[in-house]
Amino acid sequence: MPSAQMLLQSTDFNITPLTPAVDRNFADDVLHGLALPQKQLHAKYFYDQQGSDYFDQICQLPEYYPYQTELNLLPRVAKELAGIFTKDCTIVEFGAGSLVKIKPLLRDISSIRQFIPIDISGIHLEMACQLLLSDFPDLSVIPVIGDFCFPVDLPALSHQQKIGFFPGSTIGNFCPPQAASFLRNARCTLGPDSYLLIGVDTKKSPHYLHQAYNDADGITAKFNRNILTRINRELGANFSPEKFEHYAFYNAGQGRVEMHLISTEQQVVDVYGSSVAFATGESIHTENSYKYTPDEFSQLALSAGWQVERTWLAEQDLFATYLLRNRG
Ligand code: AVI
Repeated sequence: MPSAQMLLQSTDFNITPLTPAVDRNFADDVLHGLALPQKQLHAKYFYDQQGSDYFDQICQLPEYYPYQTELNLLPRVAKELAGIFTKDCTIVEFGAGSLVKIKPLLRDISSIRQFIPIDISGIHLEMACQLLLSDFPDLSVIPVIGDFCFPVDLPALSHQQKIGFFPGSTIGNFCPPQAASFLRNARCTLGPDSYLLIGVDTKKSPHYLHQAYNDADGITAKFNRNILTRINRELGANFSPEKFEHYAFYNAGQGRVEMHLISTEQQVVDVYGSSVAFATGESIHTENSYKYTPDEFSQLALSAGWQVERTWLAEQDLFATYLLRNRG
């Protein structure tokens, strides 16, 4: 079971608004992360309503290639999958967000009967489900508010073939041991004979990566700083977000883009009853975004009990989608 999980039953397509309950460890995580020698915040806390909106804006930026590249690849993937998944099936999306990338699959794979999107941001998920249902009124949609980092008990367990879907290279936001743990948990959630369709960003020129995480309009910087605004609002802290600079770079040794917030001055911030001191230039590490070669990813998947069945590479190898099979 995840630490917090809620079902939004969509019977007669009325989705009941529920208060997300996933914040119960927020204060502990923030205080713990800010007490470490290298201060850090967990990237999953970017995604409050405002953060999810900023992320949607990032996806529309010309510099942020992963989004459009994957979206262009998916119709090709879906057409091939339609020939593989011919029996009734349930698709489970991890970290479902705006539910845009599921659409090519729903259009082309006619055997999908049920869709279970799992997301940490309840309000965002509810709105996205309402929109999806207007396009696919015959689909059974059962949204689950939950933290997909943990195994999730699926609702309305059917005997249908289960296919997990994890697009967007969100797996890159986990360090490799956490990524392996997510993959093992996904096997547990989906059960035997399952598949996982997963989008993973590839290693490429650091210049390209630099542009993607340092966009000219400064939307990524707003997305990064918004985590401080969220801490202010939800934990009564008094960060001045403008006193923290967005800094993102490719760490070639680690094979990841790192995002940081750099304190522009010496300052003390009150966070949930604790005083947190920052030196000028000190950073809060807010996100890692790992990039994998196909070989590296295949090894990672194998270590977690998944076999790569099929690999689709986008133009110039900018992005990869893999079909994994549960090795049982
Ligand atoms: C959600 N995730 C895969 C994005 C990424 O590229 O790591 C989040 C993001 N961070 C900055 N821009 C986008």
